[in-house]
Amino acid sequence: MIRLPYNPELARLYLMFEALPALASDPILGLMAAFREDANTRKVDLGVGVYRDDDGNTPILNSVLTAQTRHNDTETTKSYIGPPGEPDFNEAVRTLLFGAQHAALTDKRVSSAQTPGGCGGLRVAAELINRARPSARIWVSDPTWANHVPLLGDAGLSIETYPYFDRTTSGLRFDEMMATLDTVAADDLVLLHGCCHNPCGVDLDQSQWRALAELALSRGFTPFIDLAYQGLSQGLEEDAFGLRLMAEKVPELLVASSCSKNFGLYRERVGSLAILSPTAHAAETILSQMLNVIRGIYSMPPNHGGAIVKTILNDPALKQQWESELAQMRERINGIREQFATKLAQQIGHERFSFIPRQRGMFSFLGIDQKQITRLREEYSIYMVDSSRINIAGLNSRNIDYVCDAIAAVL
Ligand code: LMR
Repeated sequence: MIRLPYNPELARLYLMFEALPALASDPILGLMAAFREDANTRKVDLGVGVYRDDDGNTPILNSVLTAQTRHNDTETTKSYIGPPGEPDFNEAVRTLLFGAQHAALTDKRVSSAQTPGGCGGLRVAAELINRARPSARIWVSDPTWANHVPLLGDAGLSIETYPYFDRTTSGLRFDEMMATLDTVAADDLVLLHGCCHNPCGVDLDQSQWRALAELALSRGFTPFIDLAYQGLSQGLEEDAFGLRLMAEKVPELLVASSCSKNFGLYRERVGSLAILSPTAHAAETILSQMLNVIRGIYSMPPNHGGAIVKTILNDPALKQQWESELAQMRERINGIREQFATKLAQQIGHERFSFIPRQRGMFSFLGIDQKQITRLREEYSIYMVDSSRINIAGLNSRNIDYVCDAIAAVL
C-alpha cells in the first residue's frame, strides 16, 4: 500500500466532525464545574438539584448502605439483567407509584421497565410516542425542567407550552393553564410534574388535579406524569395523589419516575417508565414495544441502583428506615423554606419572599434579575441557575445568614 504524506488541507475534506460547533456547557451541570473551581471558602452551591444535609453533604442513606452491603454479599452473577430490568424492582416501584390496591395494578393494566434514571424513562417514552403517533405534540409547563426539551424533543416530538407559573404572584396560573389545555388536540400529550415542580416549586392541589383529570378525559389528550420527587413534598402517598387519580380516570397514562432524589441514588441512574393501558392485553403489547425501544437505545439498564431499591422496598424494616430518612429530608427542606423566608423578611423589611414556604420540593425562583444573579456569583460566590432557580436544600444553618445578607445587598 502506498502511504501518502499527511496533508491537513486534503484531510479537511474528509473530516466528519469539523462542521460541528463547540457548545456551551449545560446550564445546570455547568454550574457544578464553576462552583468546584471557586476558591472562596464561603461559596454556596444553590445550583444543581441534589439534597444536602445541614453540613452541606449529600449523604448515602443508611437504608441504602445496608441494602448495598446485603446485595454485594449475596450477588452471585454479573450476567445481563435484560431490557426490562429486575422484575422485583418493577413490581415494587409500580406499587410505590400507584398504591398496592389500585385497580390499574390489580387489572394488570400497567407495564413498566427499570430505566437509567428518570431521564431514561422520559426518553424511552418519547421514542415510543414517536413510534405510535409521530405527529403528536407534547405540551410542557411554562417553565419546565430544562432537560425535558432535549429528552423529548430530540426524539422527534414537537413541544408546545402551556401557562403555569405566575411570575407576579409566584403562584399558579391555573385558569390560563386550563384554558390552554382546553384547546389541546386528542392526539397530543400533556406533561405534568407529579409533585415538587422543577423549577418553580408550585404544585397542583387536589381539586386542581381533579379538574385536570376531567379535562383530560373530555378532550382526550394523554397525560404524562414526571414524578421525580415522590416523598419530598408531603409524603409518599400524598405526592402520588395526582398520578393515582389520573390512573383512575383516563384509559392511557405515562409515568416517568426517578429514584435519584428520594433514595439519594443520583449517580446510580435508576428510575422507571410505567404505562397504563385500557386493557391487560394492550399493556402486554405496549411492553413488547417498550422493550424493543430500550434494546435499540441502551439495550438494558444498569443493575446496581435498581438492586438497592428493590432490596429496600421488599424488606419491611429497611423500607420503614428509608421512609423515615425520606421524611427527615422532606422536613429539613420544608423547615429551611420557613427559616429562609423569615430571615429574608427580617433583612429586607418586607414580605417579598413570603411565597417560599408555600412552595414545595427542592426548587424556587428567587425572582431576581440577571444582574443580581451575576453579582451574587461574582461578589459572594453564591451559585444559582440563571433563571434565579435556587436549590433550597443547599441552604443550611451555617450559610443561610450569609445568603440572606448577600441577597439583601444586591436587591
Ligand atoms: C436539576 O434540575 O438540577 C436536577 O434534576 C439535575 C439535573 O440533571 O438537571
